[in-house]
Amino acid sequence: MIAAEDFKLGLYVHWPFCQKRCPYCDFNVHEVGPDDPTDHQRWASALVRELQHFAPLAQGRKLTSIFFGGGTPSLMQPETVAAVILAAQTEIGFRNDIEISLEANPTSTDADRFTGYRDAGVNRLSVGVQSLRDKALLALGRQHSVEEALSALDVARSVFDNISFDLMYARPRQTFKDWQNELAQALALKPNHISLYQLTIEPNTIFEQLTRKGLIQPKNEDDTADFYIATRQALEAAGYHGYEVSNHAPAPHLQSQHNSLYWRYQDYIGIGPGAHGRLTTGGAKVATRQHRAPTVWLDHVESDAGHATVTQDRLTPEDQLAEALPFGLRLSEGMPLSHYQALAQAPLNAAHLDTLEREGLLTTADAILKVTDEGRPVIDALARYLQS
Ligand SMILES: C[S@@+](CC[C@H](N)C(=O)[O-])C[C@H]1O[C@@H](n2cnc3c(N)ncnc32)[C@H](O)[C@@H]1O
Repeated sequence: MIAAEDFKLGLYVHWPFCQKRCPYCDFNVHEVGPDDPTDHQRWASALVRELQHFAPLAQGRKLTSIFFGGGTPSLMQPETVAAVILAAQTEIGFRNDIEISLEANPTSTDADRFTGYRDAGVNRLSVGVQSLRDKALLALGRQHSVEEALSALDVARSVFDNISFDLMYARPRQTFKDWQNELAQALALKPNHISLYQLTIEPNTIFEQLTRKGLIQPKNEDDTADFYIATRQALEAAGYHGYEVSNHAPAPHLQSQHNSLYWRYQDYIGIGPGAHGRLTTGGAKVATRQHRAPTVWLDHVESDAGHATVTQDRLTPEDQLAEALPFGLRLSEGMPLSHYQALAQAPLNAAHLDTLEREGLLTTADAILKVTDEGRPVIDALARYLQS
C-alpha cells in the first residue's frame, strides 16, 4: 500500500468555454462567441467555493501543481485566475517549487492577458499553436494565423520563463516532408517543452462526419506510425527527450509536473464543469467527477452543497490498475513493478509478461515495466493483455 503522504497533489481547474469549438475537438467545451457573456465574478466565486469543498481532502498535503485547462482558459479574466490561485494557497497551501500552468490560445486578445496571468501566479504557459501552416490552421478551424501565433509566442516569452506549445500532426493532407520542415521551424523557436499530438478523429465531432462523408481522408495506421517514429527521432536529435508518448522536454525539470502526476497515478483535485479528480483518502483511491454542463455545475455549486460532484467512487484494485497501467507505460521512465503490485495487490501475469518480453514489446530490467519503441504504438493493447 502506498501511503497518502507519498503522493504529490495537483489541482486541475476546468474552464469550459471557447469562442468557437474546433471541428476535431471532443472536450467538454461550450461556445461563447466573440462577445463572451460569461459572468466572470460569479464563476470566480463558484470555482473558489468548489475548491473550498475539496480542500479538506488534501489532508495536510500541499499542492505541487495547478493546471488551468479547457476549453480556453486564456478567456479567463486574470482576476479569476488570481482568485483561484489565492484560494488554493490559503485553503491547501503550496510546495515551494509549485508549477502553475495555463492553456492559452494564440490570438492577440488572449496574449493581452498574459501579464495578468503571471501576476496572478501562473509560471508556465502552454500555447495551442497547433500548426505553423496557415492552410492547416484554416482546415483545423482555428481562430488565428501563423503570424498571430508567432507573435503570441513572442509575448509569452517576454512574460514567462517556461513556455510549452502544442502542435497537431499526421493531418489529412500533410506530407511527410512538409511536417519535417514544420517541425524544424517549431524547434527553432526553442520552446521549453513541446507537445506533439497526432490528429485523432474523435466520435461525435465535425471531423468524424466529414470523414464518414469522404470529405477528409485521415492518414492510415502505417503512415501515422511512420510520422510518429520520425517525429520522436527528430525531437531526440534536437535534444528534446520524449519523456511521454506525445511530450518532449530538453531537461527533466522542464517536463510537465502536472501531467506527470496523472501518468504516475498520483493524486489531484478536479474543479469546474466535467473535471475529474483522483484522491487517496482513508486508504482508498476515490474518483470524483463534476457535472459537465456549465449552468448545472454553477447551480449546484451555488446551492447549499457548495460543489457539483456527480460521482464519487471508491476504485477497486482492478479499476486502479486499469487506469494506472496504460498511463505508466506512456512514460519513458516506465512503471516500477512495486507500484504495479501495490495497486493490483497481486503479481503480474508472468506468462503474459514473458510473451510480451519475448516479442520485444516490453522490458522489466531493474524491476521497472517499460515499453520498447516497438511497443509504444500499441500501449493500450499491451495494458489490456497484461491485465487479462
Ligand atoms: C484542451 S485542448 C486545447 C486548448 C486550447 N483551447 C487550444 O485550442 O489550443 C488541448 C490540446 O489537445 C490537443 N487536441 C485536442 N483535440 C485533439 C484531437 N482530436 N487530436 C489530436 N489532438 C487534439 C490539441 O493539441 C490541444 O492543444
